[in-house]
Amino acid sequence: MRISIINGPNLNLLGKRETDVYGTVTFEAFLETLRTKYADTEISYFQSNVEGELINELQRAGYNSDGIVFNPAGYTHTSVAIGDAIAAIKAPVVEVHISNVQAREDFRKISHVSAKAAGSIIGLGLKGYELAIEWLIAQ
Ligand code: DQA
Repeated sequence: MRISIINGPNLNLLGKRETDVYGTVTFEAFLETLRTKYADTEISYFQSNVEGELINELQRAGYNSDGIVFNPAGYTHTSVAIGDAIAAIKAPVVEVHISNVQAREDFRKISHVSAKAAGSIIGLGLKGYELAIEWLIAQ
């Protein structure tokens, strides 16, 4: 089983970015926990602050892995092209947001991703990534 985790812009700053909203754990540290817990699953990780790079990786992973856990971060609310990429690929995509985007500013309530994703997990912190992996493994 091969699962790809893809994180969008500014998520490279997890652990030091708006810690009241996103927590103090770095994604690299969290990834180690995930890889230990799901040792039988190959978990690849890609992060970019660049929209086109995220689309390239969605296309690559979309035909080379069994499922994608995707936090598009700010592009969630703006990128038609990312929504199109998800619709274009084969692997199921689970949209994850660390914070509860529905409880924040109005612009965060719009997602170009949700309608194209298999499902969405929002507001459950980093646990959301774990739940997404559990769901993908169960498919
Ligand atoms: C986020 C929520 C987005 O609105 C925001 O732009 C992010 C992170 C989250 O994980 O809560 O960068 O996707």
